[in-house]
Amino acid sequence: MELPVIVRQLRWEAAGVVSVELTREDGGAMPAWQPGAHVELVLPNGISRQYSLCGSPEDRSSYRIGVRRDPRSRGGSEYVHAFLRPGQTVRIRGPRDNFRFTRAGEYLFIAGGIGITPILPMARQAAEWGVPWQLAYGGHTADSMAFRAELEALGPFGFHASDRTGRLPLTELLEKPRGAVYVCGPEPLLEAVEKGAAHWPAGSLHLERFKPRPRPPRPDTPVEVVCARSARTVQVPADRSVLRALEDAGLPVEGSCREGVCGTCRTKVLEGVPDHRDDILSEDEQARGDVLFPCVSRALTSKLVLDV
Ligand code: FES
Repeated sequence: MELPVIVRQLRWEAAGVVSVELTREDGGAMPAWQPGAHVELVLPNGISRQYSLCGSPEDRSSYRIGVRRDPRSRGGSEYVHAFLRPGQTVRIRGPRDNFRFTRAGEYLFIAGGIGITPILPMARQAAEWGVPWQLAYGGHTADSMAFRAELEALGPFGFHASDRTGRLPLTELLEKPRGAVYVCGPEPLLEAVEKGAAHWPAGSLHLERFKPRPRPPRPDTPVEVVCARSARTVQVPADRSVLRALEDAGLPVEGSCREGVCGTCRTKVLEGVPDHRDDILSEDEQARGDVLFPCVSRALTSKLVLDV
């Protein structure tokens, strides 16, 4: 679903970080969402980017996203900081729920930099539920860490700026398994948490990646894709993604990141065995084999039947 929305407010939250408040043009309620959800923001320059929702799911009058100005920006965060202003109309797609927040007896939240955005509504929800939780928030410099006052008002909050108090004490934080751990931040942080939480029970670690995990290249083989709803069959050559081949054939599929991290191209699998290469599905979800992300994933069988 694509929705035109108005930029109501931009707020300087920390060095290089602004929050953007978005409301519907007609003043109606925004679509419901859960902590961990993100939207795809389609900017007036045609570029689209994914941003986690970091306001309150109970406030349906607006959405809030946090945007860090990335010095290597290819037109997304740079545009938001330099050109986006209150009163402008942009479009959003979603919300999408790849980083699902589920009930647990206790939570450990770990955030690095702008990775605090999906974690903030989760911490708020845990506080409302009255479930024990702890948040460790790391950043390069204290002045670049957004939403600190809001977090401090919520409860047990550990602040770790490399220029003041040092790095996140991951060994200590992850020593004893307790409930669920939710982590968002740059790749080195995610890798360190994956290593440090290797002794936690299966299914307790939940990660959200901004970028695909580095992995060794795998050989691509051609695959026949039967699109059940459209009654069409597409031969996907080895040098083209399944998503691209379906788009080229004029089939109704949607893509955004094309890197297996945003979830836009999520597609139901009706037959065949997917070769999952995304960074969204858990091991259990991958083993079920009932959905795939065709921008990166292919097939372990010579044929796939998709709900397209
Ligand atoms: S387009 Fe983003 S996961 Fe496929």
